[in-house]
Amino acid sequence: MAQSSSRFDLSAKLLGWWYNQKNKIIKNIHIQDFLSRFPITSRVARKEGEAIFQLMTGFVDTQILFTFVKSGALQYLDDRPLTIDELSGKIGIDVKGTEILCRAGHALGLVRLKSKNIFLARRGTLILSLPGMMELIDHHSILYEDLLDPISLFDGEKETRLSQFWPYVFGKAKSLDSMDVSRYSDLMAKSQFMVARDTIGSIKINKGIKWLDVGGGSGAFASELVKKHPSLKISIFDIPGSNADNQSHNFISGSFFTDQIPTGFDTISCIRVLYDHNDQTVSDLLTKIYSALPLGGKIIISEPMLGELSPNKWGDTYFATYTYAMKTGKTRSPSQVADLLVKNGFSKVKVFPSRRPFVTTVIEAHKN
Ligand SMILES: C[S@@+](CC[C@H](N)C(=O)[O-])C[C@H]1O[C@@H](n2cnc3c(N)ncnc32)[C@H](O)[C@@H]1O
Repeated sequence: MAQSSSRFDLSAKLLGWWYNQKNKIIKNIHIQDFLSRFPITSRVARKEGEAIFQLMTGFVDTQILFTFVKSGALQYLDDRPLTIDELSGKIGIDVKGTEILCRAGHALGLVRLKSKNIFLARRGTLILSLPGMMELIDHHSILYEDLLDPISLFDGEKETRLSQFWPYVFGKAKSLDSMDVSRYSDLMAKSQFMVARDTIGSIKINKGIKWLDVGGGSGAFASELVKKHPSLKISIFDIPGSNADNQSHNFISGSFFTDQIPTGFDTISCIRVLYDHNDQTVSDLLTKIYSALPLGGKIIISEPMLGELSPNKWGDTYFATYTYAMKTGKTRSPSQVADLLVKNGFSKVKVFPSRRPFVTTVIEAHKN
């Protein structure tokens, strides 16, 4: 043990020395000038410059996208191409500002400016047509506000607006009013389509089984599941009020903080549920699910996760920051989720290769 830790110290020291030397060279302005004369190194330098510029200015891109969504510009352009003057009149933004917005939108691939007309481009069309995308972009103004003071956000001091948007994370499940529940349930339902597609496409589902979707909200996942597998018998377990607008599935009202998970199901899923909660809450929930399943029963976890081999842009940058701002949330890597499953009795854990890790990663495990 002592030997392996000293070997680790040595390789960390060597790596530290290597980074130090490399960074000294990168910082040297004469070397930068020299390297910029050669095609390969000048390409690397330009790419790094562009990446730094993108990092520095990404917040402007986000707000341009937000303005296109919030002002209704994308929808107006979906009806027909417009001139700057026409669009300005429709969205109620000054002509000069509209022109700047449209040139920026062209650069970002949202619209196309051609002979004084503005057309909706492919990216803009996709944003309009992907279910839940407009609502997701709109609700990000809350995270944006929380990020205005990022140092105190990361320091964990700050009361966040995002934690108020997701009030159940503090265990207030039973005291939420229906307005609170339908506000977030609606957003989740609309953005469920892609998650459901990737989840259902990853796993093998046996005919006629009984399935419980824990934290299944208003039943958007259940509806997609039953469309693909009409023989399934699906129930949803969620806090009261989550299914207010959808009576088409069997809804079992309860809170996994205080109630047992209902029994009699072959498969239990948690779709975008674990990452809302800390390790203790997740462990307690997995223990309850394990007890509720019969021998041979299956659990399915599906949600966005951290990068496994190295941090990635969606899991480690976006989702980790988002769930941290929720206060009790935590984005986990597939192996962290697998560890929690194993610690709570599950075996034969399988992580499915994700087609779109920014949408979801799927894990299944068994009770044997
Ligand atoms: C992020 S949403 C995901 C909803 C849905 N599974 C989806 O992917 O669209 C988390 C869900 O967990 C539910 N939830 C939160 N706390 C809960 C609790 N203590 N007991 C049961 N459900 C809970 C919420 O009401 C909400 O529907």
